[in-house]
Amino acid sequence: MLDTTAINQRMTRFDGHEAVWLFGYGSLIYKTDFPFLERRPAQLRGWERRFWQGSHDHRGTPDAPGRVATLVPREHALCAGMAYRITPATFAPLDHREKNGYLRLATTLTLDDGREVEGVVYIATADNAAFLGPASDQAIARQIAAARGPSGPNRDYLLQLAHALRELGADDPHVFALERALRELPLHAPA
Ligand code: SIN
Repeated sequence: MLDTTAINQRMTRFDGHEAVWLFGYGSLIYKTDFPFLERRPAQLRGWERRFWQGSHDHRGTPDAPGRVATLVPREHALCAGMAYRITPATFAPLDHREKNGYLRLATTLTLDDGREVEGVVYIATADNAAFLGPASDQAIARQIAAARGPSGPNRDYLLQLAHALRELGADDPHVFALERALRELPLHAPA
C-alpha cells in the first residue's frame, strides 16, 4: 500500500523550531488524537477542499476504498480549517496517520486573529496513487455510504466534517452538497 511516511520524514525544515502551526482541513479538524499547544480557527488561501482522495487505510480498504478530503489549488479560494501549534516531534504520529498519499507542504496560513503565520499542511496531490479525482456528488455519496475501514464508516468522516465546518461558521458548498446527497440515499443502498 502507498506510504508517504519516509518522504515526509525527509522534510526537516521545521526540525529546530520550538513549535510549528499545522493547518487541518479534514479529519484533523475534528479528530485530535495528537498533542498540541494551542488551536485556533484558520484559513488557507489558494486551495479548496475536495473529496477526491481515496482512503484505503482509514475509511475504506484496499478493495473498497473510501473517499476523504484533500486540497486542490484554485486562485483566490479560501479554505476554512483549524490550526494547531504543535512541536516538531508530533510530525511522527501525523506522518503515520496521513501516510496514504499526503505530503507535508510548507505554507502560510491566516489565523482567526488576523496573524499570518508559516505552517504545514498535509496535501494529497493529483499524482499520488490513491488519488481518485472528481465524480458527481451522487457517485461520491454512494461510494462514501458503502465504505468503511479501521477508523470507522466513511459516512461518519463526511458527517463529522460537515458538522465541524458548521461549528466554524464555514461555508463549503462541496462538503454540504455531499452531505445532502448522502442523506438522500436510501439506507443500505448498494454501492
Ligand atoms: C487534514 O485533515 O488536514 C488532512 C486530511 C485528513 O486527515 O482528513
